Amino acid sequence: MIKPKIFQWIEVSSYEQMSGIAATIFIDQLLAKPDSVLGLATGGSPLGFYKELVRHHQAGEFSFARATTFNLDEYVGKGPGDATSYHEFMYRNLFRHIDLAENRRHVPNGLAPDLAKECERYERLIAESGGIDLQLLGIGVNGHIGFNEPGTPFDSRTHVVELEEATRSSNARFFDRKEDIPEKAITMGVETIMDARKIVLLAFGDNKMEAVRRLENCTVTEEFPASILRKHPHVRVIYGR
Ligand code: PGA
Repeated sequence: MIKPKIFQWIEVSSYEQMSGIAATIFIDQLLAKPDSVLGLATGGSPLGFYKELVRHHQAGEFSFARATTFNLDEYVGKGPGDATSYHEFMYRNLFRHIDLAENRRHVPNGLAPDLAKECERYERLIAESGGIDLQLLGIGVNGHIGFNEPGTPFDSRTHVVELEEATRSSNARFFDRKEDIPEKAITMGVETIMDARKIVLLAFGDNKMEAVRRLENCTVTEEFPASILRKHPHVRVIYGR
């Protein structure tokens, strides 16, 4: 039987509403399948989502104990203990507040001496965990998903990328000095993301609306990485301004 394709647009009137809806989707996933494999994201879009998740978790509504998580990306040269690393973002905003054992939470290792090997290891780990059940995504103003910048092949797996100037500038707010913004990152590839069984994409604010509109009307092209999501069987886009 062919399953119907879901591509759902959920328009919200506030950032809090977006965060609450996204949290409900993830909580429902964990209640239905406590050993779910979750794909997680960093940045401004999911901050409120993590707050909501933590709040409901601390109220005793659900547990992460049997879950496994994989983050989308990490800067090359950054790792645990570095305030601007995605390891640290995840620790501060989620991991330290929940009952998810350290060996079940995964973020690419931007400090690995052999980055190509690290990419392979990350892919293997995801596969060995049974694949991602539910993936959270943000979207870049240039349409990137994870750190897959325009032009990234759709068949890419976890790989090292050079960050675009637009991406470095929009992430400058997290760094004291421009020269501290990393030039490279490890990211799940487009195909890695497309392998997730379900996807939730968050986009809030005036600066994201052009990317959202483009996603709505686009042809599928590597020049706009998020466009591939139109081919995914189960996507929910939660957006607003
Ligand atoms: P943001 O980034 O959530 O910080 O806006 C999203 C992205 O660039 O993918």
